[in-house]
Amino acid sequence: MRREVFFALQAAFLLLVVLSLYLGHDQLSQIAPSFLKPGHAIHVNATSSSVPATAHSTQHVETISSTAAAIATTTSAKVTGTKPADNAVPIPTVLSTENRTAYVAAIMNPDEKKRPRLECPAFNTKRYEYLAVQDDEGDSDPSGIQYFFALDLRECLYLLPRLIGSIVEAIRFLGPQACALSIIEGNSHDGTAEVLEALRPELDALTTTYYFKSSDINPKQGDRISKLAELRNLALQPMLDPKNEKLYPAEANTTVIFINDVAACADDLLELVHQRRFLGADMTCAMDWTYVGRDPTFYDVWIARTLAGGDSFFEIPPDGNWNSAWNLFWNEPTARERFFAHQPFQVFSCWNGATAFTAKPFLEKKVTFRAPRKGECMQGEPQLLCKDFWWHGYGKIAVVPTVNLEYSDEKGKQIKEAKGFTSNLVGAEGHKDDTIQWQASPPEKVKCMPDYGHQFFEEWNKTQPGV
Ligand SMILES: *[C@@H]1O[C@H](CO)[C@@H](O)[C@H](O)[C@H]1NC(C)=O
Ligand SMILES: *[C@@H]1O[C@H](CO)[C@@H](O)[C@H](O)[C@H]1NC(C)=O
Ligand SMILES: *[C@@H]1O[C@H](CO)[C@@H](O)[C@H](O)[C@H]1NC(C)=O
Ligand SMILES: *[C@@H]1O[C@H](CO)[C@@H](O)[C@H](O)[C@H]1NC(C)=O
Repeated sequence: MRREVFFALQAAFLLLVVLSLYLGHDQLSQIAPSFLKPGHAIHVNATSSSVPATAHSTQHVETISSTAAAIATTTSAKVTGTKPADNAVPIPTVLSTENRTAYVAAIMNPDEKKRPRLECPAFNTKRYEYLAVQDDEGDSDPSGIQYFFALDLRECLYLLPRLIGSIVEAIRFLGPQACALSIIEGNSHDGTAEVLEALRPELDALTTTYYFKSSDINPKQGDRISKLAELRNLALQPMLDPKNEKLYPAEANTTVIFINDVAACADDLLELVHQRRFLGADMTCAMDWTYVGRDPTFYDVWIARTLAGGDSFFEIPPDGNWNSAWNLFWNEPTARERFFAHQPFQVFSCWNGATAFTAKPFLEKKVTFRAPRKGECMQGEPQLLCKDFWWHGYGKIAVVPTVNLEYSDEKGKQIKEAKGFTSNLVGAEGHKDDTIQWQASPPEKVKCMPDYGHQFFEEWNKTQPGV
């Protein structure tokens, strides 16, 4: 009896952890909005729990900031009378000067050990050397910005030394003048924004291009997918600003590296960029994981779809349970085989915590992040981006299973120990980079999952091209 109570408590605790994960990553996690409705239950291994009503209770309705209006002008004719301020939202100060300085120092110095973070092994610089852009002395970089790092972040102060630290490391490696970093922060109360703002002089000194804005767009209120799309577009806006045209010529092959609030090592990011180049891919994605129970579970199941069947990476039966999460690619032998061999494989859609994709269709004004249209499957903005990529002939989308990510330093360490650090996997004896035989056509139909309880297949190109 006692054991059963203990077990029940343990199961309840695990579910709480899952819930907090899901609710915590609200800025970027791609869960169906209905999933967040109070009372909706998740089931894992024969236990279940309801989303507490308080977890998602709406606060006062915030208006969309002028920052939002600024991006709206690029996607629609909505122009406001007032010029948006450089920072629509004032940045509150919650950290002591000392602590803020300590965070900045930790981000800029990968060897700084004062603050615990996921420890990343030294990586094989030879593997990525060819990606680096030399700063030609005198000649001010004729090739423009080749690597555009983009993030939307909320309330993740503790992760900054690892996450932004790794990006800074990658920027140093790739050539600071060939890189830009663009961050949109929103609705943090833990000092995330002020640390990111305080980074500016350091990044200027590094001679890289830094865009940072705080926005009060809140995906928890109103149309969640539209707002997430808006935030993602905001992060890309500097690249699409006509004033910056020279920095981002469409022919420059600029790679956007769009990253969630994950504990990533520098080589995780470099590997995604390398594989995009090596495979000739339009987009490469990592694998992201969450610890539901003892074993890690693939996280981005709402977005990711296989190439063969347009299906989810693991099966979620109509009751919504994740019991089959261990059985990845159960109905696609090719993906399954490549996954276990640590070789990249083509998919219909992915995001999975971190991506590297071509900026071209954005620069050519063919795509933006968007919400579903009327009559189109209710789905997340990353899946819609992949759909639009396919539509415009950018269907070389691949998952790179040597890059495995989690959403905190501790869990990041756990997942790296379970799956292997990228450097170790690609450096393993007998591992050789394998190419992909790209398939030119997407699956005829793709699984639509407005929520786990409602699933059906829909034509991959439903409502295309839109208006
Ligand atoms: C500064 O950091 C220390 C230790 O990390 C913490 O105990 C303290 O509360 C922080 N102070 C502020 C003002 O953030
Ligand atoms: C542009 O990127 C593609 C794919 O990554 C690559 O095959 C091609 O060589 C690149 N072109 C230039 C000019 O760098
Ligand atoms: C569910 O239980 C099975 C069998 O005990 C176990 O192998 C699996 O890892 C569990 N799932 C999770 C997410 O922990
Ligand atoms: C959608 O794709 C199918 C092939 O999967 C094709 O037959 C059909 O013509 C396409 N529809 C549009 C509107 O392009």
